[in-house]
Amino acid sequence: MSRVVVLGSYVQDHCWTTARLPAPGESRIGEFSTGPGGKGFNQAVAAHRLGVSAAFVGALGRDPLGETARSFALAEQLRCVWLDTDRATAASSIVVDADGGNQIVVALGANGALPIEAASAAAADLGPGDVLVSQLETALAPVSEALQAARRAGALALLNPAPINAETSAELIALADVLTPNETEFMFLVEHLLGESNPTNPIVAADEPLHGLCRKLCPGTVAITLGGDGVFVSHPEHQLRGDTRPHYRVPAAQVRPCDTTGAGDAFSGALAAALASAPQASFAAQVAFACRAAGLSTERPGTAPAMATREALRERFGEAADRVEV
Ligand SMILES: Nc1ncnc2c1ncn2[C@@H]1O[C@H](COP(=O)(O)OP(=O)(O)O)[C@@H](O)[C@H]1O
Ligand SMILES: [Mg+2]
Repeated sequence: MSRVVVLGSYVQDHCWTTARLPAPGESRIGEFSTGPGGKGFNQAVAAHRLGVSAAFVGALGRDPLGETARSFALAEQLRCVWLDTDRATAASSIVVDADGGNQIVVALGANGALPIEAASAAAADLGPGDVLVSQLETALAPVSEALQAARRAGALALLNPAPINAETSAELIALADVLTPNETEFMFLVEHLLGESNPTNPIVAADEPLHGLCRKLCPGTVAITLGGDGVFVSHPEHQLRGDTRPHYRVPAAQVRPCDTTGAGDAFSGALAAALASAPQASFAAQVAFACRAAGLSTERPGTAPAMATREALRERFGEAADRVEV
């Protein structure tokens, strides 16, 4: 069976809920919970829970949080290659108030020192039909190496260009067979790489000019995620990936969101799972599948722990919902 390998970030999330956010200098009493996160790890868990053969490659510190990461992965039965670094395991502090407003600080720690060997570990044994997934939440040299190695091996390279990273180059974006920015990441890339100031938000932009921008930005397929407004897809004319149209929109799943953090990760992980497990399906069907998985993840709290299984998709959306239709 085809595989999904995710190269990327691990972050241990520390979440506090409190009635209102503390003002500068103020201490407040609240509730605490902790869990695994990081865009890379979330995407690997998303693909893994959908039943494809998935693996994660990432960096940790030699510290207790690193041990916690290993236990999370073991409990999840997710195969991981962990590279040790001399930096601390990445950690975030998330404070959420009663209205859902938040304050977040992330220390990228070990992710910033992701060694270049991570690329060969991720691309080892990749072949046609496999999918390599990466993001911009780590050092970028191994990301670029891994995308190139995956393509040389005939695998598909999926890049989620998140979070916004000022070091992103046009060369890196050009390595993606499939690019999955959200609307703000897309607008950043259009400004940063195409030099277009104040681009229109793709949620309200007209389809033709939006497709034109996608074509200038990336030679591969671009799938812009638009939160509750679904996804805009743009293909190069010569590679429609089983679709009949070069550009179109896919609606989001009908859900009642309680926590949309990690929705983009759920989408990229599920899209990779669909690409690997149902290569005969149209891209439109693969995107619709990823929208169901991402939509379901917004109905549960947390990031990695909120990712959907195939069973959960059937329960929520009906018997055929875990299938990627042709
Ligand atoms: N409110 C929502 N209702 C339904 N689906 C949603 C909602 N928010 C996110 N999603 C799903 O998750 C995908 C990714 O969400 P988005 O907000 O675009 O990413 P990010 O988390 O990176 O900002 C969307 O394309 C959609 O399918
Ligand atoms: Mg969003």
